[in-house]
Amino acid sequence: MQKFIINGGKKMFGTINISGSKNATLPILAASILSDKKIILSNVPMVKDVLTMAKLLSSMGSTINVLKKKKKIEIKNKKKLKTYASYKLLKTMRAGILVLGPLLARYKKAKVSLPGGCAIGSRPIDLHLSALQKMGASLNIKDGYIQASVPNGLVGATIKFPKISVGATENILIAACFAEGSTMMHNCACEPEVLDLSKFLTKMGCNINWIGKRCVKIVGVKKIKPTNHAVIFDRIEAGTYIIAAAITNGNVIIMNVNPKLMRNEIDTFVKMGIKILKKKNKLIVKPSYEINKINLKTEPYPGFPTDLQAQTMVLMCRANGLSTIKENIFENRFMHVSELNRMGANIRIKGNKALIRGNVEFDGAEIMATDLRASVSLVLAGLISNKKTIINRIYHLDRGYENLETKLSKCGVSVKRLEDGK
Ligand code: UD1
Repeated sequence: MQKFIINGGKKMFGTINISGSKNATLPILAASILSDKKIILSNVPMVKDVLTMAKLLSSMGSTINVLKKKKKIEIKNKKKLKTYASYKLLKTMRAGILVLGPLLARYKKAKVSLPGGCAIGSRPIDLHLSALQKMGASLNIKDGYIQASVPNGLVGATIKFPKISVGATENILIAACFAEGSTMMHNCACEPEVLDLSKFLTKMGCNINWIGKRCVKIVGVKKIKPTNHAVIFDRIEAGTYIIAAAITNGNVIIMNVNPKLMRNEIDTFVKMGIKILKKKNKLIVKPSYEINKINLKTEPYPGFPTDLQAQTMVLMCRANGLSTIKENIFENRFMHVSELNRMGANIRIKGNKALIRGNVEFDGAEIMATDLRASVSLVLAGLISNKKTIINRIYHLDRGYENLETKLSKCGVSVKRLEDGK
């Protein structure tokens, strides 16, 4: 197993190129199941979850060519794919459930493993399943697998999600593109990654019309066109590097972003005293020295993202007083807190609220990465520790951050990857 060694205390200076979004790439790859024409995706982040999804598609018979250096994936599906998604691949990547909708839509049956347990909460898939049932699918859960069939094909329906879910919106959006007739989806997630999927599907020839922010009408089609698509930038990666620059009092240019799509995040950071200049496709973070306390809550887009909660907590540890974060999306997303406290933070949890004391000096420590975003918060704390930090189990980071240590090291901070035992 690999680990990171971080020698903190250095300021970040330089330019960071933001990668394509993992959370946009995964549903787009799942949507490729609908197509028998050539697909070329560019700006693809070459991170573990994306490679796992590529493996899953390939295990189903898709001809999938991953061009790592060019950050491209080319896909050409055989006429018929296998309709089976194994536990072996879904246990490490919950987004594998996104193949259920497209398999049912195109092949009228699917056997897909229930995704494995997840550290950040129970993460049910009831919203995905009940919407597919409404579209005519019969579902049976047996031996850890969802066995689904719809012999006459999916039929368009009116779906009102009782709760906003990114994954359920994506799964049903894709499925509805091949259903008979029209589907209306209400109370949808409207994250930029969902809209990027929608853009990709439209380029494939699907008929999708967003009516207002959370409502979409999809009319099923029968034919798909060859498609080229450049994946949208990763706004969570961008937010992470804004925080890295701010806590180190650095001076960093964050390239390849669309500031309009991360308005809430930028406004929050600016309220906290971070100096950010917005340009068309870049952000310039300047030294700010004083960080203000703030009370924050995570919410579906356009609210503040849960995927930046752990990182923002490190920023709060440096603020000039007591800050709070209310986690409204996942019930158990505070696993980083005990590790941050071991490094010197003073954070208390009360239910779904964290109380974060500011003005903290971090000490180095040997710590353990847990989930993806929790892990990167430990890296951030390591950057401002006054001693050496060792982070074990960094495979969590590799699931979603492309070349993290290279991007950071290029900006003058010291993050090294070592094999365990060294
Ligand atoms: C996606 C993102 C993840 C992000 C999350 C919330 C991907 C690959 N992952 O995850 O990084 O943290 O959105 O922005 O894009 N829920 C149900 N029933 C369901 C589905 C969800 O109750 O059937 C609940 C979840 O437990 C959670 C909330 O809805 O409390 C939101 O989850 P959801 O938006 O579905 O998250 P994911 O799509 O899994």
